[in-house]
This record gives sequence, structure tokens and C-alpha cells, in this order.
Amino acid sequence: MKIAVLRERADGETRVAATPETVTKLIGLGATVAIEAGAGDAARFPDADYAAAGASVGPAAATVKDAEIVLAVRRPSVGSLLGITPGALVVGIMDPYGSEGEIGGYAKVGLTAVAMEFMPRITRAQVMDVLSSQANLAGYQAVIDAAAAFDRAMPMMMTAAGTVRPAKVFVMGAGVAGLQAIATAKRLGAVVTATDVRAAAGEQVESLGAKFIMTEALKDASGSGGYARELTQDEQAAQAALVAGHIAKQDIVITTALIPGRPAPKLVSRAMVEAMAPGSVIVDLAAERGGNVELTQPGKVATTANGVTIIGHLNVPGRLATSASQLYARNLMSFIETLIDKKEKKLAINWDDELVKATVLTRGGAVVHPSIKVPGATPLEAPRHRPRPGRPRAAPP
Ligand code: NAI
Repeated sequence: MKIAVLRERADGETRVAATPETVTKLIGLGATVAIEAGAGDAARFPDADYAAAGASVGPAAATVKDAEIVLAVRRPSVGSLLGITPGALVVGIMDPYGSEGEIGGYAKVGLTAVAMEFMPRITRAQVMDVLSSQANLAGYQAVIDAAAAFDRAMPMMMTAAGTVRPAKVFVMGAGVAGLQAIATAKRLGAVVTATDVRAAAGEQVESLGAKFIMTEALKDASGSGGYARELTQDEQAAQAALVAGHIAKQDIVITTALIPGRPAPKLVSRAMVEAMAPGSVIVDLAAERGGNVELTQPGKVATTANGVTIIGHLNVPGRLATSASQLYARNLMSFIETLIDKKEKKLAINWDDELVKATVLTRGGAVVHPSIKVPGATPLEAPRHRPRPGRPRAAPP
């Protein structure tokens, strides 16, 4: 059972899908592991450490040759997987929406694409939850980026030369990233307020010592699975009225609001930014999904005419490549462990397991995930992958 890890090829991707630590564990499960030379360089895991952990290190073609599993951060191109075992699993953040053609390409060549971001948020799968592990780090890094761009101190300081007042930090969206941003800003001594549209977030915000702010008009906009639903126009107006007055008094605003399957909601308008004092800083963690702030330029740090810095970094977890890779690689390792028969030391996938069903996008030459619609997805060539005898193939829903 060969597991391959390629160097990430997406622009600005610094993370790697396996670390020397997880390589050791995968080998302990009976796998052989091949790493493309340089795969861990940007995350500060040198080739020599992978080799010392027992992996073979070499060029891309030798790495994927005969692999049964490829571990990745971002979806590798089908072209980079030539020589892989037919039916092999490619496990990573597949980001399928808007890239249905690419997913169809995986099906066409008989690969099994596994989207880690679709992992159900159930207790058993917490250890495999890549969205949480990466959002946690992003929430932390947002505060560090804000503090670095801020011209003043974060905590209150009482010195012989006088008192420095603490920074006021406002966190919009109190999910995984937002709660970590609150905790980090509190640790740095800021006065922290936060808002969310899910009423349940209020208690979590307050348990971290921050003040929760929510409009009366918006009772609770919880959607399914613990996520938020999109607000109605009236609710949006009520939220904007609440936020406008509050933002004008803040030094730092960190926005993290997302709604599954939708563009990020616009929460901070141009007028709100213009009402902020010069030297204020906004970090828009939703930049990758269009941004929560009207003036965010995804991928850029810009200062407005009134002196407000808006930080719209993409791939914020990648700014902490070592920590992000450590957690991500452990998430992947924990999932792979569930796919292996530890006695036989070989792959034994239970296609009916809810974790597998939820994450597998393509299988046996077809796109099998119900949420992905690929026009003309019927394989153009006979699928090369055949289900194991005695294991019924999961019917496409
Ligand atoms: P997310 O990344 O989808 O959204 C971030 C936050 O933005 C959410 O708290 C959401 O309510 C909020 N939001 C959406 N629209 C907003 C608006 N208009 N104004 C203000 N805030 C807005 O969510 P995330 O961080 O992935 O977490 C969602 C939920 O899932 C949370 O309740 C979290 O505790 C829960 N969760 C459960 C896990 C488990 O049980 N294993 C693991 C991780 C998270």
C-alpha cells in the first residue's frame, strides 16, 4: 500500500499534506510512503527529515507511480497524477464548486477524489476536521496580522509616562476562526466585542470574556448543521444599523462570516470604513470567498484615503505553514487510519461508512457526490477502477 505526497503546485500554497510525524504513523499502519523532493520545504520540513522517518524522497513521477493514495492540500491536476494505480484515492481540499469540470476529469480517468472539507461535523470525525484545524489558525493569525499593522499597543499599559488605552477589537462571525480571534485578542489585552447571527454563539463569545452584540430584530439565523443561514433583507438592514454605530468606535475589526455554498455576506460597507478613525485596521478572513468588507481587495493589503488598512490575505493558514501542515497532516492521517485494515496492513474501505460517503466525490468512473453536478459526466472511457469482489459499489445518489 503506497501513499504519495506531492509538492503543492498552487500559487502561494506553503502547506504540505504529510509531516515526518505522520509519515512515521502511516508506515506504522503498514504503508510505504513516497514524498516528492522539496514537498515540505515551504513548511520547514526538509527532505532529510522525511527520509529519516522512513519515506522515499524523489521526483514527482516516481512519487505517484503505483500509489494507491495521494495526499494533498489542494486538488492536484489530473495531469500530475499519471502513473498512479487505477482507482487510487486522492485526498485533499477538493474545492469542487466552480471546478466541476476538473472533478469530472478525475472521474474520467477512474480516480477516487475525496474532499476533506466535506467531512461531517460529528464527534467521531472531529479529529479529521480540516476546516476547523485551519480556521483555528487563521483566526489566530488574523489578530497577529492586525496587531502588526496597528500603530498602537493592544493592551492597556500603565507606565511612568502615562497610560496607554487598550485597543478595541470587534470580531464579526464567531465560528471557529472568530472564537480563536477573540481568544487571541483577549490574550493580547484588547477590549473585545463580537457579533454573529447564530444565537448560540453568544454564550461562547461571553465564555471567552468578550461582549456579544446582536440586534433584537435578529433572533437567531442558525441554519442546518450548526452553520448560519443567509439573512433576509430586513435582517441585513437591522444588522447593518447595529454594526455601523459600533464599528466607528473600533480600532481593529476582524471579519470571518461565511454561509455554506454562498458568497461571503457583505457586512462592512464603504461608508462604515469611512467612519473609522485613521490608523484603524480591518482583517477580512473571508477574502477568499469575496470578502465581508466592500473595499477588500482579495490577496492585497491596502490603505483607504481615510487611513484605514484593510488586509485581505488569501490562504491565511498558509501564513503559518508549519503549524497548519502539522494539524492538516494529522487530520488526514486520522482519516486514512479508518480506511486501513490494520491486521492485513492494506486498504479496506467501507464505502458505506458515513465519513466515506460524505467525502467521496468520484468513484468507478463516475461523479457520485449528490452536490456536484457535472454536465455530461458519463465516463468517456470504461472505468478502470473495479469494485472489490463482495463489496457492493455505492450507488450514485
Ligand atoms: P463558518 O466558517 O461557516 O462561518 C463563520 C461564522 O460566521 C459562523 O459562526 C456564522 O454563524 C457566522 N456568520 C454567517 N453570516 C453572518 C453574518 N451575516 N453576520 C455575522 N456572522 C455571520 O462557520 P464555522 O466556523 O465553520 O462554524 C460553524 C458552526 O459549526 C459553529 O457553531 C461551530 O461551533 C460548529 N462546529 C462544530 C464542530 C463539531 O461539532 N465537530 C466542529 C467545528 C465547528
